[in-house]
Amino acid sequence: MDRRAEQVISLQGVSRTFRTPGGLVLALRRVSLSVSRGEAVALTGPSGSGKSTLLHLVAGLDRPTTGSITVLGTALDSSTDRALTAFRGQRLGIVLQDSHLLPGLTALENVVIARLPWGRRRQLQVRARDLLVAVGLETRMDFPPARLSGGERQRVGLARALLGDPEVLLADEPTGNLDGGATDDLLALLDRLRQERNLTLMIVTHDAAVAAAADRRLRLVDGSLDVEPGRDLGGAVRTRVLE
Ligand SMILES: Nc1ncnc2c1ncn2[C@@H]1O[C@H](COP(=O)(O)OP(=O)(O)O)[C@@H](O)[C@H]1O
Ligand SMILES: [Mg+2]
Repeated sequence: MDRRAEQVISLQGVSRTFRTPGGLVLALRRVSLSVSRGEAVALTGPSGSGKSTLLHLVAGLDRPTTGSITVLGTALDSSTDRALTAFRGQRLGIVLQDSHLLPGLTALENVVIARLPWGRRRQLQVRARDLLVAVGLETRMDFPPARLSGGERQRVGLARALLGDPEVLLADEPTGNLDGGATDDLLALLDRLRQERNLTLMIVTHDAAVAAAADRRLRLVDGSLDVEPGRDLGGAVRTRVLE
C-alpha cells in the first residue's frame, strides 16, 4: 500500500510567528511531521513550547506563517475560512484547553448544539447521552457548566468532540483536570474508539500515563520538534525538523 495515502496529518516546514509588543515570538520553527490513519500521537513539551499553537494549526483554527499543512487530504492553506469551518465540523473532533461551554445550557444540550447543523436533534440526543455515560457523566447530564467541576467540563467537551464521529480527534490536555481513575476511563474510551473506528489521535499532554498509551510521542522544545530520547527511532526519521 502507498504509505502516503494513509497519512491523515502532514506538516511540511511549518512555522508560526506571533508579533507582540515585546517583539516576535517564534512559537513554532519549521516543524515537519506526519501521522498515519489510526495512529495515536502524544504531543509533549514544556509550557510555552508551542504545543497548543501546533494543535490549533492542525485544527485549522489558525494559519501558519510559513509551511503547509494537509489534514485528511485537505490542504488547509488553500482553504477559505468558511471551508475550514465546514471541514472541522464534519471531519474533526477538537477538544481545546478551555472547553467553552455555553453557560445557559445543560451538559447534554452543550454536547448536542454544535452538531445540530449536521443531524436531527432526537438522534443527536440519544448518541450524546451514550457519550456522556461513556465519559462518566451519567448523573451530570442536566447540570449547567457552572455546577460542573473542571474535569467534568473537560469531559463534556470530549463528548461534544466525539458526537460527530470524527476521523481525527485533536485534544489539548484532555486529562489536565482529571484524577487517575477518570484518566484511565478516558484512555479506555479512546482505545475503544480507535479499535472500532480507526480514529486518529493527536493529544497534547503532560500526563505520563496518556503519553505512554500513545503509539508515538513527539516532544516540542522552544517550538522545535524533537523525539523523546531513546524512543521511537522509526518516528524520529519521519519527524526530524528540517533545517
Ligand atoms: N496569540 C498569541 N499571541 C502571541 N504569542 C502567542 C500567542 N499564542 C501563543 N503565543 C506564544 O507562543 C509560544 C507557544 O505557546 P503555546 O503554543 O500556547 O505553548 P504550549 O501550549 O506548549 O504551552 C509561547 O511563547 C506563547 O506565549
Ligand atoms: Mg498549551
